[in-house]
This record gives sequence, structure tokens and C-alpha cells, in this order.
Amino acid sequence: MTQTYQPQRYWEERLTKTFDLTGVGHRGLGVQYNRYLYKRRLETLTAGLGKTGCTLDGKSILEIGCGTGFYTKYFTKQNIMKYTGIDITRISVANLKKQYPSYNFICADIAQFGLSKLHERFDIVFAADVLFHIVEERSFQNAVQNMIELLKPDGLFIVSDVFPENTVSTSAHVCLRSFSHYEQTLGVLQVHRIHIEPIFAILQPPPVKTPTFWWNLYANIWRIERRVVRLNIIDQTLPIILEWLDRVFFCPRYGLVLPNSKWLFARKHEKNTWS
Ligand SMILES: C[S@@+](CC[C@H](N)C(=O)[O-])C[C@H]1O[C@@H](n2cnc3c(N)ncnc32)[C@H](O)[C@@H]1O
Repeated sequence: MTQTYQPQRYWEERLTKTFDLTGVGHRGLGVQYNRYLYKRRLETLTAGLGKTGCTLDGKSILEIGCGTGFYTKYFTKQNIMKYTGIDITRISVANLKKQYPSYNFICADIAQFGLSKLHERFDIVFAADVLFHIVEERSFQNAVQNMIELLKPDGLFIVSDVFPENTVSTSAHVCLRSFSHYEQTLGVLQVHRIHIEPIFAILQPPPVKTPTFWWNLYANIWRIERRVVRLNIIDQTLPIILEWLDRVFFCPRYGLVLPNSKWLFARKHEKNTWS
């Protein structure tokens, strides 16, 4: 199944068709719903950074899979010192170069692009919803290794993924990896988890089933109602209700245990004077 996924081609086609939040976000949902998903991603990213005691002020940032530049805009507002964005698509790099002429954008596959090509290290290496689209295990290992190489000693590695109990492929272009999968990969590279911040419990439709009855029932409701959710009226109202429920009740209680998106914050503990 995974053999049919050609990342560069897939993303070039997808972003050429829709260079907006539905292109990089959840394709099955409408624009308004995706706005709510992204709003929540930002709120939880900011909360997570606060809990790790990390400020973005004056930092150099490397973003992998910058897509339509949603986080480029966020980082721009944080008084960062420097930003570099890498994306596998030409369309992302061309559009973002026009929008942010003072930043550096590179068209490359992170699985094949490391320190030997960029010759520079960063305070923060960041990838939102990208690593689970690197489905081949060898490429995933190379991508993480390259990202860590490009990180300064004591630098912060921030990625989002679903972290189900066990690593699972849910489609040709998605492989969701477990915490232990990440920790094994990162541990070898002297990078250790410092914080996990849940992003959603119920706002984003369940990306994977579990042995839990209620979770699977919820997943099935989403499966049946997919087409309805794209109706304008539902797209405008449903996310408002679910976002509130998620933020106030479900995410604080179940966000860490349910298989839905989370931010992983990890620190590189390499004893190295290279910076
Ligand atoms: C789901 S989108 C997320 C985009 C952006 N991070 C966001 O959250 O809005 C995945 C992005 O990663 C890029 N991408 C996928 N595989 C990649 C790879 N191997 N190397 C670099 N970028 C990649 C895609 O082109 C796309 O822009």
C-alpha cells in the first residue's frame, strides 16, 4: 500500500490544488473547521512552550514541512532572530519566499537533507504534522537524525504526532508512531522528552481506533457523518461547540491518553561545543 505514496508528487499536487488550511490540514473538513483546528494547535503550542520555560524571543528556528506558512506567520510574530523553512514542494517554497523575502526557504526532502547541506544549527527544530507523512521507516529515521543534526546542543525539538499506543499505518501517506517508537529513535541521538502537550481529544476526528468502546463509537459517528460535516451550516457551528467541549473538558482530562494529536517537546543533551 505504501509503495504508491510518492511524497513530493503527492504534496505538490495537493498544495497546488488548495494552498490553504484545507490543503495542509484535514481534507475531509471545511475551511472553518480547519481554522478551529489550527487555532487550537497554536494555543496548545504556546501553552507547551510556556510549560517548558522556552521563549521564542531571539531564537533561530528551523521548520520542516512549512506548507502554507501557518507557523511561519506565528513565529514571525514572536520576535524570533532567524527562520528557515524546508518543504518537499516547490509550490510551498516559491509562495513563502514571496511572502517572507527576509527568510530562507529550501525545497528538500528532510530524509535526505542534513547538516552537510545546510552547514548551520538552530535553537529550535520544529515539524507540525509532518513526520507521520514520512511513512518508510528508513526515511523516518533519516529525517529525525537530520533534524537533530541541525539542532544546537541544548536545542529544542518540537514535533506533533498522534502517538497511538502502537505504531500503525492508517493510509498510504500516514504512519502514526508510538511514544516508545519516538523515544527509541530520539534516545540514540541523546534527545530526551521534556514535555507532552495534548492538542485535541475530540475536536479532530479520531485518526485511529482503539480497544475502547466509546472512542470507537465516536470514530464511527465521524465516519458516517463525514459528508454532512462539509455542509456550510455544520462547518460554521460544529467546531465552535466541539472546540469548547474539548478545551474545557475532554482535552484536560483525556488528551494525554487518547490517540489524537499532541506536541512533543524534547531537548538535545549532546555535549558539543559546536554551535
Ligand atoms: C500536513 S502538511 C503540514 C504543513 C504545516 N506544517 C502545517 O501544519 O500547516 C505536511 C507538510 O510537510 C511537507 N512534507 C511532507 N513530507 C516531507 C519531507 N519528507 N520533507 C520535507 N517536507 C515534507 C508537505 O509538503 C506539507 O507541506
